[in-house]
Amino acid sequence: MSINKVYIETYGCQMNLADTEVVKSILNNKGYEFTENINKANVVLLNTCSVRDNAEQRIYGRLGNIKNVKSKNDNVVIGILGCMAERLRKDLIEDKRVVDLVVGPDEYRRLPEFIDSAFAGEKGIGVKLSKTETYDDIIPYREEGLSAWISVMRGCDKFCTFCVVPFTRGRERSRNLDSIVREIEQLSERGFKEVTLLGQNVNSYNDNGNDFADLLAATAEVDKTMRIRFTTSHPQDLSDKLLYTIAEYSNLCNYIHLPVQSGSNRILELMNRTYTIEHYLNLIDKARKIIPGVSFSTDIISGFPTETEEEHKMTLDVMKKVRYDGAYMFKYSPREGTKAYRMKDDVPEEVKAIRLSEIIDLQQKISYEINRELIGSTEEVLVEGFSRKSDDFLAGRTGTNKVVIFPIVEGVSAGDYVDVKINRATSATLFGDFIQRSNIKTTTDKLQRTA
Ligand code: SAH
Ligand code: SF4
Ligand code: F3S
Repeated sequence: MSINKVYIETYGCQMNLADTEVVKSILNNKGYEFTENINKANVVLLNTCSVRDNAEQRIYGRLGNIKNVKSKNDNVVIGILGCMAERLRKDLIEDKRVVDLVVGPDEYRRLPEFIDSAFAGEKGIGVKLSKTETYDDIIPYREEGLSAWISVMRGCDKFCTFCVVPFTRGRERSRNLDSIVREIEQLSERGFKEVTLLGQNVNSYNDNGNDFADLLAATAEVDKTMRIRFTTSHPQDLSDKLLYTIAEYSNLCNYIHLPVQSGSNRILELMNRTYTIEHYLNLIDKARKIIPGVSFSTDIISGFPTETEEEHKMTLDVMKKVRYDGAYMFKYSPREGTKAYRMKDDVPEEVKAIRLSEIIDLQQKISYEINRELIGSTEEVLVEGFSRKSDDFLAGRTGTNKVVIFPIVEGVSAGDYVDVKINRATSATLFGDFIQRSNIKTTTDKLQRTA
């Protein structure tokens, strides 16, 4: 029998990218091979996202193209994984005849079984959500590289009224701390330099009394030359202990993604975000005191039901107060099954679009100002490789997640830490010159704890 060749496309958030590596590991253990060429595959999988309608429309468009692959070769199995699989279930198979299997985020262990049945002509659906599945024992299938993702928890119990994630990912559960540390040890031995710990709400991580701050400290201890990042933090659960832990370890990046969603307390309440703007701004102030130089990014939704022009201005106002380094900005998209779906989607599409473009323009201006202020400073950069535009330049990132471009230097390559003096900036990128290889700071150099 010939070996099955699998082609996977991944959409949506980093959790999905991490899940694709788990899926590949499960399939690889069963002898499957992978291909980057869809025409050479006999198993085509799309790991999908449901967070906004346009995310789902993209997948439908893609399924339209993929139909051709199947019409050329009848012996190809097409599968939908991820959040759309969970949300739409059998409708996907009934409406899209090209789809052979539908497998949600907690059923990936059974994927090989579903693929076998599909080859035998039987369509399959596996969409049970689990209270315990964390794929704890599965080492994700990763190519060599510098940067890795690790899901440290799955699901979400927050039920923000606009959000489909609690329905597609199920209840919150945390992965075992020791298994995460072991995985990072292995990544360090393989030469990885950066790990991003992932969860919809990492601050509610809890493994037998170890909270997220404990996890961060344990992961930072593994290898001081390895940067540890994390996302996403919910403003309700970001503890002082966590802030002090970030301050304490130089390899815990001074970068917090802290979605605010809206600047209006009335809208925040309708969204069930469970904090006020006052609480949020206090938190930002406190973090800036405890972690000097910390940078923030956020998520913002424009045009949530009943949002007035004045409330939209409040969002712009919060952006000016916080001065985020970056933001992910979206138009509200009603999602069936969520609480907000029952509210009238009464902000007209054009108004949502205008508000969104005001939000984007303001953020660009702020990002540019922040980056311009860095001209003249020296930043520690982890080199990732050649810049996208030219092999005469190297590109890397600062701990605060900013892209830095500088002319190539003999002997400096991907995986090196270097100090770069910044001499030019745009809203998205810093440019500079190599100064020296950096002396990676140790824990004690950066000890900020005052108490
Ligand atoms: N768990 C993370 C991210 C969840 S999804 C968090 O709590 O922040 C990423 C972002 O998508 C959200 O922060 C929100 O800004 C946006 N989003 C989610 N549902 C949406 C919807 N129905 N319409 C528009 N944006 C949405
Ligand atoms: Fe969605 Fe809110 Fe959970 Fe984030 S915290 S995944 S926005 S329900
Ligand atoms: Fe999308 Fe699911 Fe992530 S809905 S944003 S892929 S958790």
